[in-house]
Amino acid sequence: MAEDTKTATLSLGNKTYDLPILKPSVGPDVLDIRKLYAEADVFTYDPGFTSTASCDSAITYIDGDKGELLYRGYPIEQLAAKSHYLEVCYLLLYGELPTAAQATDFETRVTRHTMVHEQMMNFFRGFRRDAHPMAIMTGVMGAMSAFYHDSTDINDPWQREVAAIRMIAKVPTIAAMAYKYSIGQPFVYPKNSLDYAGNFLHMCFAVPCEDYVVDPILAKAMDRIMMLHADHEQNASTSTVRLAGSSGANPFACIAAGIACLWGPAHGGANQACLEMLREIGTVDRIPEFIARAKDKNDPFRLMGFGHRVYKNFDPRAKVMKESADEVLGLLGIEDNETLKVAKELERIALEDPYFVEKKLYPNVDFYSGIILEAMGFPTSMFTPIFAISRTVGWISQWKEMLSDPTQKIGRPRQRYTGAPQRDYVPVGAR
Ligand code: CMC
Repeated sequence: MAEDTKTATLSLGNKTYDLPILKPSVGPDVLDIRKLYAEADVFTYDPGFTSTASCDSAITYIDGDKGELLYRGYPIEQLAAKSHYLEVCYLLLYGELPTAAQATDFETRVTRHTMVHEQMMNFFRGFRRDAHPMAIMTGVMGAMSAFYHDSTDINDPWQREVAAIRMIAKVPTIAAMAYKYSIGQPFVYPKNSLDYAGNFLHMCFAVPCEDYVVDPILAKAMDRIMMLHADHEQNASTSTVRLAGSSGANPFACIAAGIACLWGPAHGGANQACLEMLREIGTVDRIPEFIARAKDKNDPFRLMGFGHRVYKNFDPRAKVMKESADEVLGLLGIEDNETLKVAKELERIALEDPYFVEKKLYPNVDFYSGIILEAMGFPTSMFTPIFAISRTVGWISQWKEMLSDPTQKIGRPRQRYTGAPQRDYVPVGAR
């Protein structure tokens, strides 16, 4: 991005410093403070990075006030209506929508990598059956670097590409294996005649003793969930992947770090927490009690699936997800779903409540996704793994972009030290 000649002036004591203002292609200007410490001997302070851009990126754009989300410039609503997950993967990874030939080539490459090394099965058997699938996924994704040595050299573009395809192809297999292991059923091998989302459903719900036909409606809904979660700019897990990658760590280790971060209930773990909350509320008449708890400063309870660091308007993904929830439950003939009723009424009440209105707390992507996943037959523990499958392409795209950025350095934030100044050691008898 070309740098503008405009600067901002910072005065500290009797000195002034000119800070260049960088222009984005869209969005707010960015103040370049890279030389500030060297020149002025001060740090900036921004816990949670609420005002800090950590990198240049051309992948995803969010306008939180408008409630707008673009992948490579394309609005999420258009992609959700007209595209499909593997096409979105191509777009995120390579920057443009594929031609027909590029799409065929990409899909063939992904489907040829869906199986995992047979010896990886042994890993699964070492876990307890009641292990959370996110714990298994973190471990197994990290372990891929022990199996695929030929794609861990980050300085070799070909190896980077193979690692990317491998992870996108294998992450649904790993998640489905974690699920099968938890319910004591045999692993189901990938079926490459199915599309990406259909194959995942097959690996989760088929059993060797009878035929399983993937319902195209459910496969389409799953594909849409995957598109909606594919990337989201510099969120916590993506920043984790970039930070891990900035040290030169191998791609499997970086994505494992992203999966670990995603698990937290403030991030990807919110979809599980949200459905559990909706179930706990149970009936519409109990909503006021939970709204009151969410507003009570002395109660740590929060309305899960509500609020977002960037969106101060409707999360555009939540709108699409709500439509999908209606569609899927309708098609499955379970419109009379109590959880959906509670969700809709909770949304209605919260959007009228001054607390939520003033704080601009709107439903986020996780508010309705759990209802769809539950209707498909997934237990809540699989909700975050499905988020992780979908986000893998976003993490990889951001990781690849970071490695090709000439300004890239190891991530190394500084701090405001608040501990003891230097003091002398006191022997134990004298303390
Ligand atoms: N319920 C009740 N109050 C809330 C909520 C909520 N869900 N979210 C924020 N607030 C209040 C919060 O108490 C604070 O009030 P005050 O200013 O009086 O102290 C104010 O709103 C700002 O909250 P914050 O925690 O400073 O905002 P943040 O930008 O740091 O947090 C968030 C964003 C998403 C972590 C938060 O809204 C939250 O915890 N939401 C519930 C969890 C959730 O649904 N997470 C999924 C996010 S979308 C998918 C993803 O990123 O993975």
